[in-house]
Amino acid sequence: MKNSILSVCLLMLMVANSMGQNLKAKIKIDIERRIGTVDKLLYGNFTEHLGRCIYGGIYEPASPEANADGFRKDVLTATQNLGVSVVRWPGGNFVSGYHWEDGIGPKANRPKRKDLAWGDIESNEVGTDEFMKFAKAAGVEPYFCVNMGTGSLDEARNWVEYCNAKPGLYYSDLRAKNGHPEPYRVKYWGLGNEMDGEWQIGHKNAEDYSKYALEAAKMMKWSDDSIKLIASGSSNYVRDWAEWDRTVLNSLHDYIDYISLHHYSGNQSHDHNKFMAVTLPVENAIRITEGIINEVRSKYKMKKPIYIAFDEYNVWYRAWNDQKLEEHYNMQDALVVALYLNVFVRNAHIVKMANMAQLVNVIAPMMITNGKLWMQPIYYPLQLFAQNCKGQSLQTLVQCDRYDAGDYKQVPYLDVTSVFNDASQEIIVNVVNRHESKAIETTLTNQVGKLASKALVSEVNSSGLVDENNEKEQKVKTTSKEMNLTGDTFSYVFSAHSFTQIRIKVKI
Ligand code: AHR
Repeated sequence: MKNSILSVCLLMLMVANSMGQNLKAKIKIDIERRIGTVDKLLYGNFTEHLGRCIYGGIYEPASPEANADGFRKDVLTATQNLGVSVVRWPGGNFVSGYHWEDGIGPKANRPKRKDLAWGDIESNEVGTDEFMKFAKAAGVEPYFCVNMGTGSLDEARNWVEYCNAKPGLYYSDLRAKNGHPEPYRVKYWGLGNEMDGEWQIGHKNAEDYSKYALEAAKMMKWSDDSIKLIASGSSNYVRDWAEWDRTVLNSLHDYIDYISLHHYSGNQSHDHNKFMAVTLPVENAIRITEGIINEVRSKYKMKKPIYIAFDEYNVWYRAWNDQKLEEHYNMQDALVVALYLNVFVRNAHIVKMANMAQLVNVIAPMMITNGKLWMQPIYYPLQLFAQNCKGQSLQTLVQCDRYDAGDYKQVPYLDVTSVFNDASQEIIVNVVNRHESKAIETTLTNQVGKLASKALVSEVNSSGLVDENNEKEQKVKTTSKEMNLTGDTFSYVFSAHSFTQIRIKVKI
């Protein structure tokens, strides 16, 4: 009897302990251990002719929010506030059936076409000249993707001429006739979208894509040798997926500046711990692709670098079969977006562009319902990164507890990056606490230079893991506070299921 009472007491004590006690961790920051420069293009986005992204998203001439060109001012302002650097356009799967000449000249003459990727009718009301107006008003760099599905080599090359050549050639004169004598100087050009996927219009095998894209690349660069080209890399992580990248890199290495990767994740099994580990294979895919880039660069004794453009990423699973892709995001999804961004920052030496898919309404950080724009939970981590996380990515020592979840082994509860901004002499620490219910009491130590006496702490969180926002209420958002520091070691308790960004000035 005595023994059983004792074991019940012990059990109760263990349960109470496991519920109440914070976990502990250590983070060490060293501004001399530099990984690479965080490119501002890591904070890019993507707009596709799909559902309500272009029409009813960025462009809605009938809305009271529309400016003189038909673009929604609230979307333009929210894009600027988000800190978006580059926007990929016009697709996505859509681009593989898109003929850009349908979208220029008088609107009344533009053809209506059925888009075979998403089943919508494309009015071609927004084409090249309109998108450039949007990019200018939003203050973003345009990144065009050419049609490598049904498009011709001439079409690809002519589009570069239309956008970038001085007047005096057929297509640049056409641009001038359409009201734009000055070249647009579009710098970033994608050689097709997800050409490795059988779902793609005009899908090809690696050899056929590589041959075709090589000829397009040559002609596009001969039209304007200042452009940067992005080859269509892996999006389809089936067996031997990396062979696609190897073939593409072997063929296109002389012409391309980036190879793309795409990844979407979901919480289909409603398992928090597994969901918080979905970016582990993403980091692995980056390392594998980096290895192949190195292999090819060494084989051809190349001096020119080739980087990774992670030009589509996000959470997307609830609205997978819904043609409009109007995903409603929650707190967990915001954490996954912060995890993706940490992966890109941690690999800043090789990942030089990343584009959240997409900008508005369609798997997006902003949503319009009943004519009103509001911010989804995933808006906030991207905003904190895009506005503040600039400079040199640093190797960061992290000691914390780990967990296993299905195939994911030894996942650290804390996912951390740190960055040193030379210009503002500031350290930025980005921390995701993956733990569903426990705060993590952490000792942070700065190893070089003296920390200022104050830090700015911003946290994205909400009391409920599946809390969402809507047009009336922003349950998930950023809250910021100042924190006093004394010395180069300090303690901070990272709340359960949170993303925290700490910014501190440092004197060297
Ligand atoms: O972003 C939605 C779709 O996802 C894109 O059109 C395609 O490239 C990807 O499969």
